[in-house]
Amino acid sequence: MKIAVLWSSPNTDGLTAAARYHISSGIQKTGAEVVDIHLNRKKLEHCRACGNGWGTCNKTGSCVIRDDFEDIYRTLIEADGIVLISAVYWSGMTECMKAFVDRLRRCEATQRHALKDRRCVLVACAGGTGRGTLECLQDMEMALTHMSMRAYDRIPVVRYNSVYMLPALEEAGAAYVDRLKNGFNMYY
Ligand SMILES: Cc1cc2nc3c(=O)[nH]c(=O)nc-3n(C[C@H](O)[C@H](O)[C@H](O)COP(=O)(O)O)c2cc1C
Repeated sequence: MKIAVLWSSPNTDGLTAAARYHISSGIQKTGAEVVDIHLNRKKLEHCRACGNGWGTCNKTGSCVIRDDFEDIYRTLIEADGIVLISAVYWSGMTECMKAFVDRLRRCEATQRHALKDRRCVLVACAGGTGRGTLECLQDMEMALTHMSMRAYDRIPVVRYNSVYMLPALEEAGAAYVDRLKNGFNMYY
């Protein structure tokens, strides 16, 4: 079983990186493989809203920009599970995460539907006041909803709760693999 862990923060030793480490450890302890994608290290432009605004992706399902987007998209399609982890910037996703999610939503929601019904884990990491963590999770979930995907869990990590949330992320990773294997205990 393969789980794609997409994460975004420029810091490889910060709260987001720690969250990614702990959830990945939990996933790996079950024997599942983690495909780690550090979005800040990828070449990812933002959506150009080309054509009349709906973009050519509306008809083709692929983006006209030639960068790392399509490879990452394919990795998600091939993965059994998807975890999205973003640092909280301005009460939302990082610009890198948003650039990726914006383009994914356009291709996926209008044409490709390759990720439809996938259940994902969302994690938001706020190292400041902690304000905006829920809005960040909400933004990510809204994008999933537009793509007919679902959030299996939404996990807020702030610097004040990291002492207990980081260990909890290990259990979350293991529980997610278990659900992927044995079915989700959700009715929607
Ligand atoms: C541009 C910017 C905006 C930020 N906005 C928020 C915010 O709205 N709420 C918050 O709690 N922290 C905010 N922070 C702090 C980040 O969430 C903090 O740096 C966090 O630890 C990011 O994860 P990292 O340790 O992996 O870098 C912001 C940081 C930056 C650089």
